[in-house]
Amino acid sequence: MNIRKYKKEDIEKIVKLEEECFNHSLGYDFLNSYLDNLMAYIYVIEDNNDIIGYISTMFDGEIIEIMNFCVSPKRRKEGLGESLLKYVFSELLQEGAKSSFLEVRESNIGAISLYHKLGYKEINRRKQYYSDGEDALVLQLIF
Ligand SMILES: CC(C)(COP(=O)(O)OP(=O)(O)OC[C@H]1O[C@@H](n2cnc3c(N)ncnc32)[C@H](O)[C@@H]1OP(=O)(O)O)[C@@H](O)C(=O)NCCC(=O)NCCS
Repeated sequence: MNIRKYKKEDIEKIVKLEEECFNHSLGYDFLNSYLDNLMAYIYVIEDNNDIIGYISTMFDGEIIEIMNFCVSPKRRKEGLGESLLKYVFSELLQEGAKSSFLEVRESNIGAISLYHKLGYKEINRRKQYYSDGEDALVLQLIF
């Protein structure tokens, strides 16, 4: 099992993983266009030629914004999500990261627990942020 930056050949598998996790995906074209985006830092966890975890972030030299983040339902609660986040932090701290933020559904207790474990704190609430009317919590981690 290893964590590495994504490549063009991974995109179909990432789209499938996102659909499994969220019932929708950023999509092939979007992920393909991000291969050339210098601010996009996208990583996968690979195991036996399978993509079992994925994180997409935008990094401007100071702030890491988490865009999408998921682990295959079959492989949850093994510490993979935590490893993936910590990997991103270690890579981007070397490049000057000062903080990270993200939005998460207020009902997403599992993800919120993980973010709290790693030190994220709630800094804001976006009312009815999602199309179904659910609020988003904005969480921030200062390194
Ligand atoms: C959120 C997600 C990525 C976590 O991945 P994971 O590999 O299962 O998480 P880990 O095994 O690394 O968990 C690490 C810690 O997070 C917390 N945690 C993770 N899942 C949890 C759950 N379902 N309930 C409560 N706490 C949870 C625990 O504190 C855990 O630490 P512990 O094992 O010492 O108790 C995964 O559940 C997922 O893909 N969810 C669907 C997509 C999603 O919600 N993405 C985030 C969008 S903002």
